[in-house]
Amino acid sequence: MGIQIAPSILTADFARLADEAAAVSNADWLHVDVMDNHFVPNLTLGLPVVESLAKAASQPLDCHLMIEDPDRWAPGYVEAGASSVTFHIEACRAPIRTAREIRAKGARAAMALKPATPIEPYEDMLSELDMILIMTVEPGFGGQKFLDVCIPKIRRTRELVRKHGLDVWIEIDGGVSAETIERCAEAGADVFVAGSAVYAADDPNAMVENLRALAQNASSQNAS
Ligand code: DX5
Ligand code: ZN
Repeated sequence: MGIQIAPSILTADFARLADEAAAVSNADWLHVDVMDNHFVPNLTLGLPVVESLAKAASQPLDCHLMIEDPDRWAPGYVEAGASSVTFHIEACRAPIRTAREIRAKGARAAMALKPATPIEPYEDMLSELDMILIMTVEPGFGGQKFLDVCIPKIRRTRELVRKHGLDVWIEIDGGVSAETIERCAEAGADVFVAGSAVYAADDPNAMVENLRALAQNASSQNAS
């Protein structure tokens, strides 16, 4: 699939979401951060907003659920129109069942790991997933500083995906910018969430292309 860029609307103007989606028309996905003020200390949006945004946006929605009890809520986000639904493994009681429910309803299923959560215990369930989201900040807020300590985990996740011959995407979320994207791509990531880097730019679409070019270049160097 190659490099994909998913701007996070967390840093966008929530009163103008359709316009903010249109401002990143070059993006492959629109990343939607759902927070419940329990799993993370912040509250954002839920099913009704996702349902409206799915109709208003031209890009597919990549819903990142930072909520308790994703087992109960995740399938509803597919029904609301999300094309990819990510649950946090730290909050999930039955990840295989939840991933299968997401896929059965027609979306891509993804599992997110907080910075201190290792990938290794989940090696045997990689085949149940379409994507692993590796957080490179503690989840909850945009605009935080990228945690370099997460880079080795990106590399190890890529090795596990390769070892099993799977087509599982590796998404990076948190502090992704022109300064940090290359080291993530070089380590093996292929989907990049960027909130403040994109929406604080004068031309968000130009920043999407800039990030894409940097990541493509770094990942092709890695492959050669
Ligand atoms: C943080 C969210 C991110 C956030 C990223 O918990 O999951 O998607 O919007 O924002 P930046 O790119 O500003 O770190
Ligand atoms: Zn996110």
